Amino acid sequence: MQCDRIWTNARLVTMAGARDGLGIVDQGVLAATAGRIIYAGLAAEAPAFDAIETIDCAGRWITPGLIDCHTHLVHGGDRAHEFELRLNGASYEEIARAGGGIVSTMKATRGASEEQLVASALPRLDALIAEGVTTIEIKSGYGLALDAELRMLRAARALGTHRPVGVVTTFLGAHALPPEYAGDADGYIDSVCNEMIPAVADAGLADAVDAFCEGIGFSAAQTGRIFDAAAARGLPVKLHAEQLSNLHGAALAARHGALSADHLEYLDDDGIAAMAKAGTVATLLPGAFYFVRETKLPPIDALRAAGVSIAIATDCNPGTSPLTSLLLTMNMAATLFRLTVDECLAGVTRNAARALGLQDETGTLDAGKSCDLAIWDIERPAELVYRMGLNPLHARVWRGK
Ligand code: NIG
Ligand code: FE
Repeated sequence: MQCDRIWTNARLVTMAGARDGLGIVDQGVLAATAGRIIYAGLAAEAPAFDAIETIDCAGRWITPGLIDCHTHLVHGGDRAHEFELRLNGASYEEIARAGGGIVSTMKATRGASEEQLVASALPRLDALIAEGVTTIEIKSGYGLALDAELRMLRAARALGTHRPVGVVTTFLGAHALPPEYAGDADGYIDSVCNEMIPAVADAGLADAVDAFCEGIGFSAAQTGRIFDAAAARGLPVKLHAEQLSNLHGAALAARHGALSADHLEYLDDDGIAAMAKAGTVATLLPGAFYFVRETKLPPIDALRAAGVSIAIATDCNPGTSPLTSLLLTMNMAATLFRLTVDECLAGVTRNAARALGLQDETGTLDAGKSCDLAIWDIERPAELVYRMGLNPLHARVWRGK
């Protein structure tokens, strides 16, 4: 059988098939044509391939390319100063209420050109790519006005032309209340629903719509309006929910068929049941949990018992998770949340793809999917979760190259 490339002598973590487990194939081979996997399985059962290029993996492990399904990668400035304030006792919420937090990054972002936003995001993107990331979600939400939100989304899309990586964009206009609307959150939500979502949809700049449902963000009622406006434009939704308190955002998101609800430290049983029913992915963000020194754990056992799929992501952002390592994120998910190795790996591959609605495209080594691979110098998959600060990536393949 003709094919472009074949990777022989490989150990595969396919993540395919059953919901649980890594789907390991020990003496494996993987073949691709036109950027798509055409075979991933036992060498002994493979058809005879006539490949243009053969790559001997010398027993290395191949996983699906990693997927970072929740980031705020594009933003102006940084918040190192607020980090210092927090070290001296201020809380994240106090800083936000005093006009810092998201609004301070808003000012830096509004002051940056599209080119500057791209340039400042590239080192962060490169750090993720260097660890095998092949797909990344990038949110807006630091512009908080139409032109700046559009600029962020254009910068995010542009990153996908500067580097060989799949970029999925999410419009997060309802991330914080901009100062122009102080005291008039409903007025700002009017603008998000009636002006921004239609403009972003018309420009084709967003693949989904997100909001921050929280005391320092927006109410459940306001979030529901955002979801209705997104649905009117055919855009899927997701939500920052139950990060600092329980506003029942996850259940609301699930009722709107959300792809994912994210953070979830304060999630309750009703929220879990609603997510299970709707097939909404629980995206856990251990970097933010760690960095704000949260002590309330997301309800992992109850999520497992309900059969909710769990993804994990960096939440790369300047305020609560200045994290650009998905490998370290897996280690944090294991250490802080007690996720298993299998759950961590599913969280950055198969389930992360589901959180982006890309489950037919990437996230497992299955014939028909995009040939997105990470090839590792490791003895066993657990090493990807176990180490802190060592990068054993040997090679990365995106869309077959
Ligand atoms: O995911 N929770 C809201 N959004 C970000 C934080 C953004 C910021 O502080 O700049 C998060 O944690
Ligand atoms: Fe976030």
